[in-house]
Amino acid sequence: MMLKDIKSVKKVPVTITIAGSDSGGGAGIQADLKTFAALGVHGTTAITCITAQNTYSVTAVECVKPEIVKEQIKQVSEDMGIDSGKTGMLYTEEIIKVVSEEISKRGFPLVVDPVMVAKSGAPLLKPEAENALKNLLLPLATVITPNKFEAERLIGREIKDIEDAKRAAEEICTMGPKAVVVKGGHLNNPKESVDVLYYKGEHTVFRAPRLDSKTTHGTGCSFSAAIAAFIARGEDIPSAVKHAKDFITHAIKFGLRIGKGVGPVNPLATLYREASKYSVLKSVNEAKRILESSPHIGSLAPEVGINIAMALPYAESVKDVAAIPGRLMRVFDNVRSSSYPEFGASSHLARYLLEIMKYDPSKRAAINIRFSEDILALLGEENLRISYYDRGEEPEEVKRIEGMTIPWGVKQAIARVGGIPDVIYHRGDVGKEPMIIVFGEDATKLAEKIVGLSLKFINKLRAEPNYSKT
Ligand SMILES: Nc1ncnc2c1ncn2[C@@H]1O[C@H](COP(=O)(O)OP(=O)(O)OP(=O)(O)O)[C@@H](O)[C@H]1O
Ligand SMILES: [Mg+2]
Repeated sequence: MMLKDIKSVKKVPVTITIAGSDSGGGAGIQADLKTFAALGVHGTTAITCITAQNTYSVTAVECVKPEIVKEQIKQVSEDMGIDSGKTGMLYTEEIIKVVSEEISKRGFPLVVDPVMVAKSGAPLLKPEAENALKNLLLPLATVITPNKFEAERLIGREIKDIEDAKRAAEEICTMGPKAVVVKGGHLNNPKESVDVLYYKGEHTVFRAPRLDSKTTHGTGCSFSAAIAAFIARGEDIPSAVKHAKDFITHAIKFGLRIGKGVGPVNPLATLYREASKYSVLKSVNEAKRILESSPHIGSLAPEVGINIAMALPYAESVKDVAAIPGRLMRVFDNVRSSSYPEFGASSHLARYLLEIMKYDPSKRAAINIRFSEDILALLGEENLRISYYDRGEEPEEVKRIEGMTIPWGVKQAIARVGGIPDVIYHRGDVGKEPMIIVFGEDATKLAEKIVGLSLKFINKLRAEPNYSKT
């Protein structure tokens, strides 16, 4: 047999979204395609409606002819084969009818997001289409993902807490779907957003911390698209829902603060973070080489040594920040380290970066150098925004919690200058060496800048009358 005749080459999973277009790019087809791309499945589309919408309103809806909706599903299915699908905004009874027909013919696993109302309050399903959704589509669903209001509409009762959500999920399951997830985004729980899955007679509860809801446009779409993507990749329902929950939590946490209303979720956040690991390590390693080969950098080294760090985009913890294990220690005029950059190697610089990135996500690199008035003056000449915090002013309740001083200090420094500083220093405290932290966007460029600073500093020292080389 020729190699070209082998038919069993594994193909990329194909997923289809049958939904509306959101011109604002935050929900609908646009959110679904981003989610599919982020999760490594090939995304295809059957567009049902075109909406004119932004982060706070839907101003116009134009439906696609039902036969064109049907044709889109048919063409994708006959050519590529569909491993899973999801439905979003279906809007009319006619569209629901043709979609149901096509799906029962094709038989792929289907996630139904029973979209009824947009976040902005606009109707996304005509009232007379509700019965078609219930009678035609629900029995074909592998998973249905109603939010609080949609679940209430389906069962005709109010849902107040997790116990109500559990009972609702059970009841909706009797309408035909294999599994039900009642989503908790709108449940009144200030601490957590809790989703309840009912599948094969069992409830599973998925919890996540409740996040700032300024960036939740598209949560429902992206969540159901993620379930469909994990199913296409071969996962069973409970595992697909669990992974989709983790995925949506990140997408909300790192949502995009754009528009005047509710900003879009960011389904690509996790992917960008993962994809940046190599370039971040490479940048810190190059920074290390630049610092080690500079002839005067020792003059800037504090007693504890220099470290240089760079965070991944969307960093959440010390593990997402790369630095040099054991720091670069002074050896005469130079600095040296026998280690290579690793993630999690500097909790000290990581704490600065994690805090400052909350205000300016582009400031992903930091270096610590020795404190001196002369060095500070030279930094001042570079047109940098400089601020400081005073460890003596640290409140008792902050002191008591391990690891809180730096985040507190960064907040103080920001408040002091009313903006995001490029340099933050402190003058030390009992047992704490004073220190200057310089921030930048990239570790390599920051190292180059600090080498330039060391040259200026050494020239300044040499110009002093009693200069002697130590
Ligand atoms: N503020 C929040 N913090 C954390 N998770 C949230 C938050 N809001 C929603 N979620 C999660 O996002 C997912 C979508 O839930 P939600 O109830 O918001 O759906 P929805 O109302 O259909 O969304 P949409 O309005 O985008 O259609 C669920 O997993 C839910 O728990
Ligand atoms: Mg929704």
